[in-house]
Amino acid sequence: MHLKDKVALVTGAAQGIGKAFTQALLEKGCKVALVDLNEEVGKASKDAFDKQFDAQRTIFVPCDVSDEEKLKDAFQKTVQHFGQLDIVVNNAGVNNEKNWEITVQINLISVIRGTYLGLEYMKNENGGSGGAIVNIASLAGLLPVAYQPVYSASKHGVIGFTRSIAMAATIGNYGVRVNAICPGFVNTPILQSIDKEENMGQYSAYKQNIKDMIKFYGIIDPSLIAEGLIRILEDDTLNGEVMKITNKQGIHFHEYNSLPFQSKQQ
Ligand SMILES: NC(=O)c1ccc[n+]([C@@H]2O[C@H](COP(=O)([O-])OP(=O)(O)OC[C@H]3O[C@@H](n4cnc5c(N)ncnc54)[C@H](O)[C@@H]3O)[C@@H](O)[C@H]2O)c1
Repeated sequence: MHLKDKVALVTGAAQGIGKAFTQALLEKGCKVALVDLNEEVGKASKDAFDKQFDAQRTIFVPCDVSDEEKLKDAFQKTVQHFGQLDIVVNNAGVNNEKNWEITVQINLISVIRGTYLGLEYMKNENGGSGGAIVNIASLAGLLPVAYQPVYSASKHGVIGFTRSIAMAATIGNYGVRVNAICPGFVNTPILQSIDKEENMGQYSAYKQNIKDMIKFYGIIDPSLIAEGLIRILEDDTLNGEVMKITNKQGIHFHEYNSLPFQSKQQ
C-alpha cells in the first residue's frame, strides 16, 4: 500500500506505541484519527503533532474502545471527517491482572470489534476500497507468562483471531489484509503498571521477577515497533502474519507449521 494520503484510525494513540505509530504514519503522509480514552494526553499529543505536521491531518477522538457505541462513533467520525478509511491499528491495551475482565475486554474484545468495524468500512463487498488492519498483540501472545496470565491469554486471543480472520479475508476476497505485531518489552508508560498493586493484584509479589525478565530481554524503543507497522502496511503480500519485534532479532516473523488440512479455500 502506498501510504501517502491514506487515512488511518489508531486506537491508544495518545501515548506510547500508538503515538509512535501516529508519528510514523504522519511522516509517510497519512492522515490519522487518534482514538484514546485519555483526553488530556490525547489532546496534548495532537497539539505536539500540529507543530510538526499540518493540523488538518490529525483529529483526536476521545473514546473508550471497550464501549461498543463509542467505538462505532469513533469509526463514523473518522470517515465523516476524512471521507475514507484505509488503515485500522487496534493498539489500545492494558495490563491489569487484578481487574482482569477489563484486560480481556480491552485487549481482545475491543480488538475483535475494531477489526469487524474496519472490515465493515473497508471491505470490497461493502463498497469499500480495501485496506489493512494491524492488531497489536505481544510476545506474551506466543509464550506463557507466569505473572500475567490474563494479559497473556488476551494476546494469544488476538493472534488466533488475527490469523483466522486473515484467512477469511482471503477466502472472501475482502481486499483487506489483517496482520499482528508482537513486541517484546517496549519503553512506554505501560511498564509502570508492574509496580502497581491495582494492576498486578495477586502477582504483585513477583514484580521483581518481571523486572529481572525486562533486564534480561532489554527494552525496545517504540520507534522500532512503528518501523514494523510501516513494513506491514507497505508490503501488500503480507496477510495473517505475526511479526515479532525483539531487541536481539529486531523485526522478524513467527514461523508456523503448514496446516495439515489444505483446501482451495486456504
Ligand atoms: N510496552 C510494552 O512493553 C508492550 C509490549 C508488547 C505489547 N504491548 C502492547 O502495545 C499496545 C500499546 O501499549 P503501550 O505500551 O503503548 O501502553 P501505554 O499504556 O503507554 O498506552 C496505551 C494507550 O492506550 C490507551 N487506552 C487504554 N485503555 C483504553 C481504552 N479502554 N480505550 C481507549 N484507549 C485506551 C491509553 O490511554 C494509552 O494512551 C498495548 O496493546 C500493549 O498491550 C506493549
